[in-house]
Parts: sequence; structure tokens; C-alpha cells
Amino acid sequence: MIGKLNHIAIVVPDLAAAANLYKETLGGRVSNPVDMPEHGVTTVFVELDNSKVELLHPLGEDSAVQNFLNNNPGGGMHHVCYEVPDIDAAIKQMVDKGARVLGGGKSKIGAHGLPVVFLHPKDFCGTLVELEEIGEPQISYTMM
Ligand code: CO
Repeated sequence: MIGKLNHIAIVVPDLAAAANLYKETLGGRVSNPVDMPEHGVTTVFVELDNSKVELLHPLGEDSAVQNFLNNNPGGGMHHVCYEVPDIDAAIKQMVDKGARVLGGGKSKIGAHGLPVVFLHPKDFCGTLVELEEIGEPQISYTMM
């Protein structure tokens, strides 16, 4: 069912420093930061030929990634995102196979304007997994 790796997300303590690291040290194609208040994050995307890296920094009071940063002050890998053709079919398959779907088992509109769900890390080898229904991105990033 899962298709391409859509992105790997890394939580960072300093977004400008991380963006600069990916741009200058690694020579990556790096977007300008985009605030996503509904997700409690500010995001920078690094465009790779075959995938993306999503640099995440907490935004606002109860950001989902603030706890992660408290536990990992230097930052760290937060989740991997796999593309699926149909989010509702994917949710059904997860439930049928006994995997826990976070957020009450309902998809939400994710950082790219497409339906996503997150799966419990304890069911996936200690890794938070995001499934994203593929389609045309609704949010465009301008590159630095
Ligand atoms: Co993600």
C-alpha cells in the first residue's frame, strides 16, 4: 500500500540555523519558513531529487513538537511520511491489522494541504509514521 517516501521530519531548536546548515553545508535546496498555526509548527522544506526533509520548529503555546524538543534539546528525527493513494482505505487497513491510528482514527489536513494520519510509534518499530494521501500540494513554498 505505501508508496513513495514523502518526507522525513526533523525537529530543530533553531530553524534559521538548521535551514542554513542544509543550504550552506549540505548544499540543499531550502524553502523559506512557513508558519502553520493550526499544526503548531513553523516549517522549512529541503527539496531532494527523490524526497523532502521537513525541518520543524514549535510555534505557539501548545505545539505538538515542543515536548519532543524538551526531551531532545539538540533536535532529532521526529517522523517519516509515506504516501498512500487513499487515506480512508489506509486507516481501515491499519485498524484491521491492529495498528493504532492517532487522532481518534480520523485523518486531518496536513502541512501540505492533503489528508494525513499519524500511527503510534510503538506499533512501528519506535518510529512515528505519517501517512499522506497523495495529490497536488495545496501550499506552495518559495525557495530561499
Ligand atoms: Co510530516
